[in-house]
Amino acid sequence: MNDASHAMSHAMSAPHFDKLIVQEVAPRDGLQIEPTWVDTADKIALINALSTAGFTRIEAGSFVSPKAIPALRDGEAVFQQIGRHPGVIYVALVPNLKGAERALASRADELNLVMSASQAHNRANMRMSCESSLIAFGDIVRHVQGSGVLLNATVATAFGCPFEGRIDEDRVIGIVDAYREMGIESVTLADTTGMANPRQVARLVARVLERLPASALTLHFHNTRGLGLANVLAAYDAGARRFDAALGGLGGCPFAPGASGNICTEDLVNLCDEMGIPTAIDLEKLLVLSRALPALLGHDVPGQLAKAGRNRDLHAVPEYVLQI
Ligand code: COA
Ligand code: ZN
Repeated sequence: MNDASHAMSHAMSAPHFDKLIVQEVAPRDGLQIEPTWVDTADKIALINALSTAGFTRIEAGSFVSPKAIPALRDGEAVFQQIGRHPGVIYVALVPNLKGAERALASRADELNLVMSASQAHNRANMRMSCESSLIAFGDIVRHVQGSGVLLNATVATAFGCPFEGRIDEDRVIGIVDAYREMGIESVTLADTTGMANPRQVARLVARVLERLPASALTLHFHNTRGLGLANVLAAYDAGARRFDAALGGLGGCPFAPGASGNICTEDLVNLCDEMGIPTAIDLEKLLVLSRALPALLGHDVPGQLAKAGRNRDLHAVPEYVLQI
């Protein structure tokens, strides 16, 4: 077969894959755990740069207690000063009505309400029971109604809790149903400390997709035990299409012992590019941004692609090899 006919048969046999939507969460999940203060101007510059990389959704910050998460205490300034790129939804994480009021005043496009499936982690993270969180969410839904602002709610520790261990899948499904009954449009299942495995993910995703469309479900994986991208593929194969990821693999919940980074955006986009799954995200741009993170944060970051380069970034054959 010559090159042209080989290329053609390859193109004809290449399977068609649905688009995988990546929501970039480094400005929120990524920065919330950083011990070094990142200036408001640097946060804004990062979000503005990410806005031109092809994302349709960016979680740009949170409106939580500044005592709980001092690193993101400048949420108002960030949301008010970022450039609003057409086609990008700027999401804000909120825990309670006060957070929702701040987020609306700062023109967030979507609120991400967070409650853990486990009581222990919800108490550690939100300082309240799950029941109190749900009551707060009801207040938020009523407050937001008619404003045009979108609502998403996250089930944190959906695949395991660092305090309680295994989480009953029926409990997660029950919370998803409760969110939907409140009128919350979309749902995120979060693996807060990387306890999920691909079979568990496939099972839970299949169950949730019996209740809501793939366009209303996001998976949020942390790579704490190295299973992050394996879990993405399991979820994708089970029908999920929306995923959170953080530039450089930053991230983690400060109120979950042993927490570590989100799945890394550029590693995820590389996986998709190599497999032929469309994302519409500019990987070269991401690599430039990721490689600037160590200087911004003062430490190495977990992402692997920024260190290894892409498959196509080949090396010159060494001189001694040419002589063999
Ligand atoms: N934004 C700003 N300040 C807030 C706030 C919000 N959304 N919610 C509460 N506060 C303030 C109160 O005004 C009060 O301030 P004061 O001490 O100056 O009077 C103080 O925080 C305590 O308020 P209270 O309602 O008693 O909160 P709490 O101490 O029980 O904490 C939360 C509850 C939810 C506010 C807090 O645990 C929190 O922000 N958690 C989020 C943690 C997080 O972001 N984790 C990572 C993401 S999953
Ligand atoms: Zn997270």
